[in-house]
Order: sequence, then structure tokens, then C-alpha cells
Amino acid sequence: MENNMADVAVLSKRGSDRIVIDDDWPGYSVDLFSHPAHYSGDLDSVIVPHGVIMDRTERLARNIMDDLGDHDLVVLCVLKGGYQFCADLVDKIKALSRNSTRTIPMRVHFIRLKSYMNDQSTEDLHIVGAEDMTFLTGKNVLIVEAIVGTGKTMKTLLKHVEGFRPKMIKVAGLLVKRLPHNTACLPDYIGFEIPNRFVVGYALDYNEYFRDLNHICVISENAKMKYKI
Ligand code: HPA
Ligand code: MG
Repeated sequence: MENNMADVAVLSKRGSDRIVIDDDWPGYSVDLFSHPAHYSGDLDSVIVPHGVIMDRTERLARNIMDDLGDHDLVVLCVLKGGYQFCADLVDKIKALSRNSTRTIPMRVHFIRLKSYMNDQSTEDLHIVGAEDMTFLTGKNVLIVEAIVGTGKTMKTLLKHVEGFRPKMIKVAGLLVKRLPHNTACLPDYIGFEIPNRFVVGYALDYNEYFRDLNHICVISENAKMKYKI
């Protein structure tokens, strides 16, 4: 009996650690929200509206502080796609610190990885700005990524960061794509699990377009052609 109860507890914890967006959910019609006129016709649907991103990020900030808030924190923002999520997450963490007597010093560092051309992942993965990160030694490190697809970026980065012997490393990913092979390496904090479709907005791009869109949207096939390089 006790074992059964424990199993149920583990299952329900797993089930509640992210918002799951199902494959057959069509998303919201783009016309229900405001968006830049220059992207009219480029978007199929809104799958995560900006307000929902902000609300979920606020909760992730609380979970992160509960786990990491006992020691100096270094936030590693993975550019370019992670800039908006990182800025908003750091804002929410700062708000928690303002309202608490238990506060921690926090640094933010930026690194860049690029692996996408059009909507395809490429082989050559290069880390920029991560050469000398000796300031990570002995610190709690939070890697902040906008999206985890194959998990390849995350694995490369974790290996690199581990080399600087931090006290603890955690990963926050706003979005995780539901793929058959990415279960081995998942972020510790996940905003949303989404279908395996190419999404844009909230700093996520398609060939550098769509970062100036607030909501997370599914790009149209038309737009993939229009902005192809
Ligand atoms: N959109 C934008 N960038 C990405 C994606 C995506 O769906 N997947 C990996 N990088
Ligand atoms: Mg990109």
C-alpha cells in the first residue's frame, strides 16, 4: 500500500512539472491577439500567448529559488533565442528577492550557440563566450534556454560547464519539443512541452525573423518559403 502511494506521488509530480500542449490542439487563431502587421499571413496559430508565458515563468522562478536560493547564483543565458526568457525569468527571481529576507547575489552571463539554418538543426555547434568561465567554480549555475529540441545543445553545454566544477548545475527550458529521442536529457525546469513543430516568437527566430513577436506561434509553410536563405 505504501509503495503504491509513493508511485502515485511520483507520477503526479512528474505530470505537473510542465504544461503539456497536445499534438492535436490547434492553438489560438492569430486574429484573437495583437501581433505586428508585418507578420500577417506568416503564422498558423498562437500556441503560447505572451501572458501565459509570463505566468508560467513566475512559477518557474519560485521553483528555482526553492532549489538554488541558498547560494550565489550564476545565470547562463543561451543566446540568441534565450534572451527574452532569461530577462523575464531574472526579473521574476529579482521580484522574489525583493519580497524576502532570504536573498542571494546573482550574476548573469551570456553565451551563444548556433545550430539552426532555416528550420533544420546543423551539425556544427559552436559555443561563443564560454572560453573562460572560472567564475562558475563553486557556484550554483542555472543554464537558461528558450527551447530544447534534440537536447544536443544542452548536452554539449552541460559537459562544458561541468569542467568548471560548479556546486550545482540546473537547466531551465521554456519549451521542450516532444521528440522520440530527447528523453535522456531534459531540463530540470520546463515551461511547456510542445508538439514537434517549428515555433517562433518571444525571441525565437526563423532565420533571424520573428524575434519581434510576443507570443509563441507556429510559423506557416508560406513564411518558411518567404524567409528562406
Ligand atoms: N524555433 C526556433 N528555434 C528553434 C526551434 C524552433 O522550433 N527548435 C530549435 N531551435
Ligand atoms: Mg535560431
